[in-house]
Amino acid sequence: MKLPANIRENVSLQAMNSLGIDVSARWYGEATSGNRLISLLDFADEEGLETLVLGGGSNLVFAGDFPGLVARLAITGRRWEQVEGDSAILVLGGGENWHEAVLYAASAGYRGIENLALIPGTAGAAPVQNIGAYGVELKDTLVSVTVLDRNTGSWRVIHCEECDFAYRDSVFKRQPGRYVITELRLHLSRSAPLTLVYADLAGYFDEQEIPALTPLDVAQAVMAVRRRKLPDPQQMPNAGSFFKNPVVPLADWENLKAEHPDMPGYPGPVTAKLAAAWLIDQCGWKGFRNARVGVHNRQALVLINHSGGTGADVLSLAERIRRDVQARFGVTLDMEPGVIPAGLTPGY
Ligand code: EPU
Repeated sequence: MKLPANIRENVSLQAMNSLGIDVSARWYGEATSGNRLISLLDFADEEGLETLVLGGGSNLVFAGDFPGLVARLAITGRRWEQVEGDSAILVLGGGENWHEAVLYAASAGYRGIENLALIPGTAGAAPVQNIGAYGVELKDTLVSVTVLDRNTGSWRVIHCEECDFAYRDSVFKRQPGRYVITELRLHLSRSAPLTLVYADLAGYFDEQEIPALTPLDVAQAVMAVRRRKLPDPQQMPNAGSFFKNPVVPLADWENLKAEHPDMPGYPGPVTAKLAAAWLIDQCGWKGFRNARVGVHNRQALVLINHSGGTGADVLSLAERIRRDVQARFGVTLDMEPGVIPAGLTPGY
């Protein structure tokens, strides 16, 4: 086997997944450019290795060591294009830290992504689950992504409309492993309205302050609100919301609401979105912990690896929570993070 420069063997991934699960990669390399990415993937193909392209590792559960090649996407770079009047395109390398990119845009006075401050992970991972918070989703500003399509081996630009975005979902999530997102383009504006529809956020400001707010003020408010409820992965390893908020037919919501008048929910014309955190909280899981893993005591949607938890520990806790919510409310919770199974078979 001819080992390309800077591929390493048996590398710990503990610091590269925000749940802090102590697993390792059989082979590991960093893709700092498109060409470097291709050479890493070529090496894996020649050796018949499974590959995993890793971003910030903030939305993953490793169930075991990774027996193939982990390529960490480290393509950086930020630039402005088509700066015309109030609007501009912000181009981000897929390996850029998402939160720093938000602060960069907001500090320059551009609006559109300030509500997405403090979401962990990289820019390239943001479209995969169409990150969203406080009434804003990535799809609201995304123009296009540049990807390496591993089915064809070619580079492509995929426009927002083709990404098939939905709540925490996209074509990238539905075809895992097919696309590597190396660059994104966001349409931002200095005069777009700020989105303060969420009570948590609006309540942070005085009514009179609102007309003069800058996107940086909003980003800072979002950071304060998130820090109140969500644990810092550096101190309490976690993967953000562990479950999606379930979407149920309107009739189910009406029945549930009749039975549980306090239940929060967001009904639309045909379906309603329920608050998974509330369902979990009602089942008594908030603040639960065993020796290794637990449920955050301020946001029941966040599972925490307190001390040496394995992927199996986290997944079995998630399964117990799912079963309780199903038994009590008849509602199925779907996991938000992806699971990297243990003992992958070739072709994964
Ligand atoms: N609630 C509880 N118990 C809890 C937490 C919340 O009963 O422990 C209730 C709240 O009172 C509220 C409802 O559940 O009525 C919803 O809670 P919250 O507003 O905190 O938001 P969420 O639906 O739990 C979602 C996103 C978060 C995002 C926030 C703010 C999902 C899966 N989660 O959480 O995203 O930051 O809204 O927009 O959509 C993430 O994806 O990692 C994430 C943190």
